[in-house]
Amino acid sequence: MLQKFDRYPLTFGPTPIEKLSRLSAHLGDRVEIYAKREDCNSGLAFGGNKLRKLEYIVPDAIASGADTLVSIGGVQSNHTRMVAATAAKIGMKCRLIQESWVPHEDAVYDRVGNILLSRVLGAEVQLVDEGFDIGIRASWEAALEDVKAKGGKPYAIPAGASVHKYGGLGYVGFAEEVRAQEAAQGFAFDYVIVCTVTGSTHGGMVVGFAKDGRQRRVIGIDASCTPAQTRAQVLDIAQKTAALVGGDDITDADIVLNEDYAYPVYGVPSQETIEAIRLSARLEGMMTDPVYEGKSMQGMIDLIRKGFFPAGSKLLYAHLGGVPAINGYSYTFRNG
Ligand SMILES: Cc1ncc(COP(=O)(O)O)c(C=O)c1O
Repeated sequence: MLQKFDRYPLTFGPTPIEKLSRLSAHLGDRVEIYAKREDCNSGLAFGGNKLRKLEYIVPDAIASGADTLVSIGGVQSNHTRMVAATAAKIGMKCRLIQESWVPHEDAVYDRVGNILLSRVLGAEVQLVDEGFDIGIRASWEAALEDVKAKGGKPYAIPAGASVHKYGGLGYVGFAEEVRAQEAAQGFAFDYVIVCTVTGSTHGGMVVGFAKDGRQRRVIGIDASCTPAQTRAQVLDIAQKTAALVGGDDITDADIVLNEDYAYPVYGVPSQETIEAIRLSARLEGMMTDPVYEGKSMQGMIDLIRKGFFPAGSKLLYAHLGGVPAINGYSYTFRNG
């Protein structure tokens, strides 16, 4: 579905699929759980889902003649860390707006994890005291103008690389990759579980899996805690991406977004999220983070326990990365 689009390789290639046997057994072996390790997809600063998206955005950035990638996220944004690494890799400058999206206190929150990495990667990091919003922000637009005023040529990458004309393509590619891996291993997955916030990971998957009628088997677990806005953004991205790749029409019913696990608020883990992080760490050695993957892990575990998935289902948990942020939760995990 993506042959006509330029792609700048930032990842190692197809990501491994790993069976989570001990977690499956712990949950009664009613379903088989597998993880697609997007968190291990690249040598660029710990990798993660944004690199799949950026592979289709970078050719446009280079063609535009830009010299500076400009992007935005929370203080512990994985996305801005990935943009900083990408800028370094392609020889551009990087300007990042880090807003106060998370009402979370930790002595080292703005010093460690993703923001530390972005600084080491050479990005110009600006902290802005604005709350959570996945939409287009004035602070980001001001940064774009500032780069221009100083004689630079900015290239705009929105939060999560989502509301960008090519933002959905990477995860169309994910679905194609899964199909090829299914053919090689001789079985198909019944459900894909994905953490959803800015929407292009989920939106791209919906378009990719619509090709074989499985788009409603993509179970988004909202981690934004603003699910109406996230849902609308997933649908919009999916519809625009479908039009771009010549895929099937996407309707609101194709977007499955579970709102039950984002509480208490974006970026703050509930006790149940913390327990899910510990469980997958202690049974599988697989780390997840308190902002995104810990919530989708919690959601998957709870839905399994509630019998949401029919017995015998094969689940593919998309592990999208994000572990560096756990360093900003040093007090939460002080006793493990
Ligand atoms: C680790 C991780 N998981 C999930 C997501 C959600 O992806 P998206 O923003 O494309 O919905 C993000 C980014 O927001 C992320 O960094």
